[in-house]
Amino acid sequence: MGIPIAVLKGDGIGPEVVDQALRVLREAAGRFDLALTFREGLLGGAAVDVTADPLPEETLALCRNSRAILLGAVGGPKWDGLAPEVRPERGILRLRAALGLYANLRPARLSPALIEASTLKREAVEGTDLVVVRELTGGLYFGTPRGIERGPDGERAVDTLTYTTGEIVRIARVAFEVAAGRRKKVTSVDKANVLASSLLWRRVVEEVHREFPGVALEHMYVDTCAMQLIRSPRAFDVILTENMFGDILSDEAAMLTGSIGMLPSASLGAEVALYEPIHGTAPDLAGKDVANPIGAVLSAALCCRYSLRREDVAAAIERAVEGVLAAGWRTADLARPGERTIGTTEMGRRLAEAVTAG
Ligand code: IPM
Ligand code: MG
Repeated sequence: MGIPIAVLKGDGIGPEVVDQALRVLREAAGRFDLALTFREGLLGGAAVDVTADPLPEETLALCRNSRAILLGAVGGPKWDGLAPEVRPERGILRLRAALGLYANLRPARLSPALIEASTLKREAVEGTDLVVVRELTGGLYFGTPRGIERGPDGERAVDTLTYTTGEIVRIARVAFEVAAGRRKKVTSVDKANVLASSLLWRRVVEEVHREFPGVALEHMYVDTCAMQLIRSPRAFDVILTENMFGDILSDEAAMLTGSIGMLPSASLGAEVALYEPIHGTAPDLAGKDVANPIGAVLSAALCCRYSLRREDVAAAIERAVEGVLAAGWRTADLARPGERTIGTTEMGRRLAEAVTAG
């Protein structure tokens, strides 16, 4: 028996991209003598259809008994009408919370081969290499009270943005540690000119910074950050931010690298970690063999790096991605007008081949 890895393919393009990630990971594991055992579970809409629960007990147990989780994506128009508690997205949020995965790392590095694929000019994006460290189990996503209630003047909706000192301390430490291993700069993003939660955020981040004298810290408002990300992305090393801002800014950061289909993520914080591409289920692309599997493949590489402590395997997968892109192979999302494209499966096959070829 190998190291147990839970596989939650989810909905939309999730299954297609995860299949290719597994193909590449199997190839790499074989080459580097790494024994893995994959066990599948239901999550999101796929789970709702079968069990009426987006995170069935069985899936949670499977995850708890695995070393790591590879996830595709969840959600889709089919389930949009459901009550909030049973929507597919709630499955993933409950999973993050149940496993204590408070630290979400989203590395956005522009592959040299993709400079022309970005919607931004070469001069602007060249050299982009940053990591968004997103707090993942607090803030607006989880705060209570929440919901929609009926009042005398119609309906009233409420969401609550809370952060405790402890929640900020632990995610700030992760960001400083990540930066210490990189270009030693943290940009903490908040809205301290308006939000109370951001005032506390800023104060606590400054306190934690004292533990990391070798790392530079700057603060930036989230609106400024949204602007600076497309103006001078090279200025960023590590972006530390709360849950909702991180959700938004990481999609923006992804586009710097050519396509949202490229970005992997690692959700850490406890024994079992979770790896998923940041793109969604892209229902319009599902079942057509056109989705870009690279975000999922690079997520598998992060799994090798962080959960399996196999830098050699992670690096081999990342080199394969570099090589295939450099050879000119593109999925539709990466192609410029007139450029020839390949499908999800062929991209996976070429990546697996590149892993073998070294
Ligand atoms: C992400 C996604 C999720 C999020 C959704 C699917 C709940 O957008 O991982 O970025 O908002 O966290
Ligand atoms: Mg998102």
